[in-house]
Amino acid sequence: MRIIAARDYNHMSRQAANIISAQVLLKPNCVLGLATGSSPIGTYKQLIEWYNKGDIDFRQVKSVNLDEYVGLDYTSNQSYIYFMRSNFFDHINIDPANTNVPCGANPNAEEECERYDALIHSLGGIDLQLLGLGPNGHIGFNEPDDHFTKGTHKVALSDATIHANKRFFEREEDVPRFAYTMGICDIMQAERVVMVVSGESKAGIVREAFLGPVTPQVPASILQLHKNFTLVADAAALSQMSHTYD
Ligand code: F6R
Repeated sequence: MRIIAARDYNHMSRQAANIISAQVLLKPNCVLGLATGSSPIGTYKQLIEWYNKGDIDFRQVKSVNLDEYVGLDYTSNQSYIYFMRSNFFDHINIDPANTNVPCGANPNAEEECERYDALIHSLGGIDLQLLGLGPNGHIGFNEPDDHFTKGTHKVALSDATIHANKRFFEREEDVPRFAYTMGICDIMQAERVVMVVSGESKAGIVREAFLGPVTPQVPASILQLHKNFTLVADAAALSQMSHTYD
């Protein structure tokens, strides 16, 4: 595992965007695994800026997002497909037909999860997976559990996640209770994994995930075993493990 220590959120976002940009330059038809949430917004903004300058071309890129709330679709401004369009896809030249997000509107979980894993497989797997880190150590919506889940599945969101995500909704009751998420196996099979983490509130979980034991109780800890994992984090997020890098 490699740690890139950034000064602050903007610096973290530029560093992560640099890695994604290099991926797209080296393999223009690559498959990007993408995340939502506050952490990658700056990365997407930076990539849009470079796209507008003509420095990066997404024409042949394909994308697969990590997760989606069950029951929400693109018409809901809380859905992850809506987030991706408004924060990234609508501002670059990626072909909308090449972008993929689990379909929250499909009530048949088994069918949807099988479809999504088959899709990832048919694309030849993920070249670069971008991740954020949940306050409880979740990646995608793989919540703390007594085992690591494998493929895409339906998950009941933990109280901690519902509480953390209520900031995007009017009321806590409005936060969906279930999501479809890629599994740990889907993430671990990506050729390269890049995680962006920012802020002091994540310092404790960063230490637990990357200095502690590998355990499904802290799902991100599995990334310690990934062959090509880069943590791009700002000084505040790294403040409890500063002696371990430089
Ligand atoms: C989002 C996702 C989540 C977030 C995590 C951190 O697609 O899969 O795992 O990455 O909840 O969210 P933020 O970045 O908002 O702190």
